[in-house]
Amino acid sequence: MSTLVITDLHVAIDGKEILKGVNLTINTNEIHAIMGPNGTGKSTLASAIMGHPKYEVTSGSIELDGEDVLEMEVDERAKAGLFLAMQYPSEIAGVTNADFLRSAINARREEGDEISLMKFIRELDKTMAFLEMDEDMAQRYLNEGFSGGEKKRNEILQLMMIKPTFAILDEIDSGLDIDALKVVSKGINEMRGEGFGCLMITHYQRLLNYITPDHVHVMMQGKVVKSGGAELAQRLETDGYEWIKEELGIEDEVEQEA
Ligand SMILES: Nc1ncnc2c1ncn2[C@@H]1O[C@H](COP(=O)(O)OP(=O)(O)O)[C@@H](O)[C@H]1O
Ligand SMILES: [Mg+2]
Repeated sequence: MSTLVITDLHVAIDGKEILKGVNLTINTNEIHAIMGPNGTGKSTLASAIMGHPKYEVTSGSIELDGEDVLEMEVDERAKAGLFLAMQYPSEIAGVTNADFLRSAINARREEGDEISLMKFIRELDKTMAFLEMDEDMAQRYLNEGFSGGEKKRNEILQLMMIKPTFAILDEIDSGLDIDALKVVSKGINEMRGEGFGCLMITHYQRLLNYITPDHVHVMMQGKVVKSGGAELAQRLETDGYEWIKEELGIEDEVEQEA
């Protein structure tokens, strides 16, 4: 079993504190969902875990099986088994999707132990068929001209091929039609198991109709303020977030005048 432990994490952007003490423990074989209103720091948490340079960790820690993630470079984090599906995936000019995948897989392997081309192609074909993807997507340049739905499907292809220990999926469901949502969910459910843990960030309960999370957390004003099981997401769908504010005595933030 692997464990990702986030302790009292504080993160600032351009000197402004966004995360104000996040605590979260995710084990493999668990799917966690983080929900919360807009602008509460959910994407900031994802970016900080992956080591985006703009997000300054001012205090707290992130540990993967006792290793200090904050000390790792971005590529070392990926090598250690972390995977972030970008909220807005970017293009990499001149690199085909298949090439990108193969080098991402090999980056997690030792030198001399690279995946054979035959094995890679076999696995790629199988996974693309499972995700109902067009064969020619493999030879297209990464994300270039991909529709929103194709990008998301492609992120799940990356997930299934790279097989990370922990995936952080930020709004993987946004902008998906129902068929794409079903395929994306099918992929995540397929990954579920002993060697895999997942943190899904979503603002809608809709995704959670297809992927039942083991744990649901509500983030507000830069903190995880409430945690529960799948039933918590159901309640948020019907009742919104106000009741949590009342229950916990959370005041609305007042924007400071400049
Ligand atoms: N790159 C950035 N530069 C400046 N401010 C940012 C940046 N990213 C996020 N923020 C600010 O941080 C806060 C939290 O944003 P975010 O983490 O994206 O929230 P969420 O994902 O919960 O909607 C917001 O007030 C947002 O404006
Ligand atoms: Mg966000």
